[in-house]
Amino acid sequence: MSNQHKAGVAFIDGEYQPINQARIPILDWGFLRSDANQDTISVWDGLFFRLDDHLDRFERNVAKLRMTCPYSRNQIHSIMNECVCRTGLKDAYVQIIMTRGVPPLGIRDPRRCKNQFYAFCIPYVWIATPQQQDKGLHLIVSSICRIPPESVDPTIKHYHWLDFEMGLLDAFDRGGDTVVLQDRDGHITEGPGFNLFLVQNGSITTPESGVLDGMTRRTLFELCAELEIRCTATSIPATQITSSGEVFISTTAGGIIPVTTVNNQIIGDGLVGPITRALRDLYWEKRGSGWHGTPIEKLS
Ligand SMILES: Cc1ncc(COP(=O)(O)O)c(C=O)c1O
Repeated sequence: MSNQHKAGVAFIDGEYQPINQARIPILDWGFLRSDANQDTISVWDGLFFRLDDHLDRFERNVAKLRMTCPYSRNQIHSIMNECVCRTGLKDAYVQIIMTRGVPPLGIRDPRRCKNQFYAFCIPYVWIATPQQQDKGLHLIVSSICRIPPESVDPTIKHYHWLDFEMGLLDAFDRGGDTVVLQDRDGHITEGPGFNLFLVQNGSITTPESGVLDGMTRRTLFELCAELEIRCTATSIPATQITSSGEVFISTTAGGIIPVTTVNNQIIGDGLVGPITRALRDLYWEKRGSGWHGTPIEKLS
C-alpha cells in the first residue's frame, strides 16, 4: 500500500489522509466542548482484538450521548479495516470517534449539530516503555479527584481528561511515571488510559464503579478465571494500594503493565510479582494465538 500512509492514516469527511495532514474543523464541538465519544481497538499480528465488544461499547455510548452515527456497524468495520490496510501495519492502534460536530453559525443547540465520525490508525501505542514494563511503573496517587460520575459518565470513553492531565503533571513533578485519581470519598478510580488492579493474599480487586469498563479489564476477568485466581470488582480505599502485594494496570495500549512503586513506596519486594507476570504472559500468549481476534481483510 501507499507509503504516505505508513506512519498512520485518518478517515475524515469520507476520505483517507496521511495522519500528519489530518485536520478536523476548529468549530467542531468535539474540539470546542469535548463533546465526543471514542473507542480504541488494538490490532496485534493482523487481528483486531474484541472487535464486536468494542463496537458494542461504541454504539452504546453514541446512543447515550444522543448522537447519530452516519455509518452502519458494517461500514465502520470496513473503514477500520481500510485504515489498517492502508498503513500496512500488523500491530496497530485504531481509534473511532464520534463528535457532536458543527452547528449552524451562532446556534448553541446540540441538537442542531451535524454529528461527525472520524477514525485513525497509527502504529501500536505502548503506555509504558519496554524498560518501564520490565521494571514496573512508579504510580502516583493524586489528590486531584476524578470528575464525578454524576457529572460525566465514566463508562463513556470521552475526552474529559483535564483531571488526568493535571494529575500526570503532578505525578511527573513527584518523580512518578503515571497517575491514578481518587473519587471524592478517597476510593481509587482509574488513570489516564488504564484501569487499576491490586493483588492481596493471592486475590485480585479492581474498582467496581466510577471507571470505564475497559476491554482489557474485561479480559483480565477471563484470564483470572482461567488461572483460577479470584478477581472481584469492589470499592477500594486508596489507602489500600501501598499495602498490596502486587499492583498492575490494564489497557489496550500495552495490555497488563506492572506497578512496583506507589507514591515513592516500594510494593512487595519491588519486583514484578508472580501473579502479574502470569497474567501478562497468558495475555500475550493468547493474543498471539488469535484469541478474540478478527482478521484484517486484505492486509498484505
Ligand atoms: C479512562 C480510561 N480508563 C480505562 C481505560 C482502559 O480501557 P481499555 O482496556 O478498553 O483500553 C482507558 C483506555 O483508554 C481509559 O481511557
